[in-house]
Amino acid sequence: MMTRPTKVASILTVTAMLISLSSSETPAACSVIQGLPGLNGRDGRDGTNGLKGDPGVRGEPGPQGERGSPGQPGKVGPKGNSGEKGNAGVGGLPGSKGQKGDNGVGLQGLPGQKGDKGNSDASLSPKITSLESRVAAIERMFTTFKNAVLFARGSSSGNKVFVTSGKTMNYMESNEMCTKAGGRVATPLNADENRAILQIAQYYNIFPFLGITDLQTEGTFRYENGESIKYSNWNLREPNQDGEEDCVEMYSSGKWNDKKCQEQRLNICEFF
Ligand code: GAL
Ligand code: CA
Repeated sequence: MMTRPTKVASILTVTAMLISLSSSETPAACSVIQGLPGLNGRDGRDGTNGLKGDPGVRGEPGPQGERGSPGQPGKVGPKGNSGEKGNAGVGGLPGSKGQKGDNGVGLQGLPGQKGDKGNSDASLSPKITSLESRVAAIERMFTTFKNAVLFARGSSSGNKVFVTSGKTMNYMESNEMCTKAGGRVATPLNADENRAILQIAQYYNIFPFLGITDLQTEGTFRYENGESIKYSNWNLREPNQDGEEDCVEMYSSGKWNDKKCQEQRLNICEFF
């Protein structure tokens, strides 16, 4: 592409050549030479803005938006109407026997009135339904109560619940404390009960006496009820009766060792 000054220069050169040619020749005949095309004109100026166009055609509806977040809970509703009267409660326990009366000489009384008609099956049915729902409510309360006890400082194995007072004491004191609470000193009857007792002991990092002694017959370990033991988990070379060792302690391994009953160990009781 030729730049504008170069293009102008070449046009001038050609023009000069043509002039010299025409002046050196004899003007025998008159001839006309056509000129070269002129330069391109400048770009035009911007026009004024056109008129505003007509509104476009309405678009299709967009896709459904995302689900909004849940609103605040509503206010508490008004109190409901009273329900119907419930069934009669379960009868209380019989009262204690009265004192013996004085001997008297009386006439035989008149026959009593005829008793009320007994309950038919149909009249028992709502009472049974009511009792069933009350038993279910008691079961739920019991489970909650058991969980609360276990959460605090207990463990369980099957139906047995083991609970510690968190205190250390000798065997006799532990036995007394558990009995007063309606239980016994923790007495593992199998490996899982042994594990449950160990779980509490490990948590406190203090180890307990078990409800097993040979106080009655030296060398024969028995439960508190006098039965000889059915399950044992003695440590190696135990029981060794080192001096006077009539009680049984649990080690941090869960193994057992016979030990003096006067030692201080963690009190753990069992219930059920
Ligand atoms: C004693 C303990 C015994 C026995 C022994 C084992 O200190 O009183 O019961 O465990 O250790 O080496
Ligand atoms: Ca021992």
